[in-house]
Amino acid sequence: MAEGGNIDPASSSRRLNLSNEDLDKIECASPTEEDTSPIDHQASDGDLEEMEKIRQFFAQKLNLGSASNESLKVLETVDFDGVMKYIRDGCCKSVVTMAGAGMSTSAGIPDFRSPGSGLYDNLGKYDLPRPEAVFDISFFEKNPQPFFDLARQLYPSELKPTICHRFIRLLEQKGLLLRHYTQNIDTLERAAGVSDERIVEAHGTFHTSHCTGCRQRYDQQWMKDQIFSEDVPKCESCGAVVKPDIVFFGENLPSRFFRLVQDDLKKCDLLIIFGTSLAVQPFASLVDRVPDTCPRLLVNKEKCGRPNLLMRMMGQSGLEFDSSSNYRDVAWLGTCDDGAVAMAAALGWQEELRRLQGEDGARPEEAA
Ligand code: OAD
Repeated sequence: MAEGGNIDPASSSRRLNLSNEDLDKIECASPTEEDTSPIDHQASDGDLEEMEKIRQFFAQKLNLGSASNESLKVLETVDFDGVMKYIRDGCCKSVVTMAGAGMSTSAGIPDFRSPGSGLYDNLGKYDLPRPEAVFDISFFEKNPQPFFDLARQLYPSELKPTICHRFIRLLEQKGLLLRHYTQNIDTLERAAGVSDERIVEAHGTFHTSHCTGCRQRYDQQWMKDQIFSEDVPKCESCGAVVKPDIVFFGENLPSRFFRLVQDDLKKCDLLIIFGTSLAVQPFASLVDRVPDTCPRLLVNKEKCGRPNLLMRMMGQSGLEFDSSSNYRDVAWLGTCDDGAVAMAAALGWQEELRRLQGEDGARPEEAA
């Protein structure tokens, strides 16, 4: 104990900074293969405010946070420029990127939760028990039609990656990208030329499909033809419904996700999160699995990733932009494409990004 009854910062940091092994023991929603289906959780603003007040009260009373965090801080300034300098100075070699639907909206694919334009606000005509039911496996087994109607909207009419997808490729070309974890099922990362080995499609993709009866495999073109023919796709061998290999609520995430996530996140020295509300587990919990020294940059239209009460109880601390003890979390608010362009400008990569964007006939002036 330090003077005045305060807890010694060194000992408090030892108790507060849990290792990944510790987290494995206490996180109910940690990505282990036993509990793998996606779970939707959205924090209410009331919860968040209450938790932040309680957290600040205890942090102040116990003098926690600032002193112990100082030794973990690797950014000169905890802002966008600080993160860019960290990259320019060669401080990171293993960047992990996380992506959600906001990364593909400029390719004409709607996201899920944006009020008004998101898919979940536009499902009234299907008379669903709740919007997420369209991606619920037990609902799909009874009534696959709403999903296939929606698939026509989700299916990119042309596989034209955005500037932000190109930026991920550029990170790979620079030898900085350890892995790109995406919740998107649109395959635009592949179309941008990011190599298969670097991509983890955590919620599956339209790339392949399987018969729900005899498991016969179908390719992307076959499924695309079926989706646009407006029929529910049926197996040519047994007549059962064929489902794209995307992960529904109630289904397991791909084993590749669990195989790679443990080592990748431990090695990660910069996490960049693009265009996701971080509302679905276990994907959202990845932000908690990087080392305590790893800076985390969110590029999104809104601040998200703040933990709700339940997540805190499960040992997840989420992103802490507005906390007084924040030493590593930066939010860049705007579109993913503008964020990618801003990063390329700060890193002196504009010309390369412009060239990549022009690669498949896209208008080069769209980039940087
Ligand atoms: P959401 O719709 O939940 O969140 C998209 C986020 O991107 C929101 O925070 C938007 O504000 C933001 N956004 C939208 N357009 C943007 C843009 N151009 N630039 C930057 N930000 C933008 O989508 P996800 O987080 O991807 O799961 O949703 C996660 C999962 O929920 C999906 O994979 C899907 C869904 O249920 C399954 O189907 C299993």
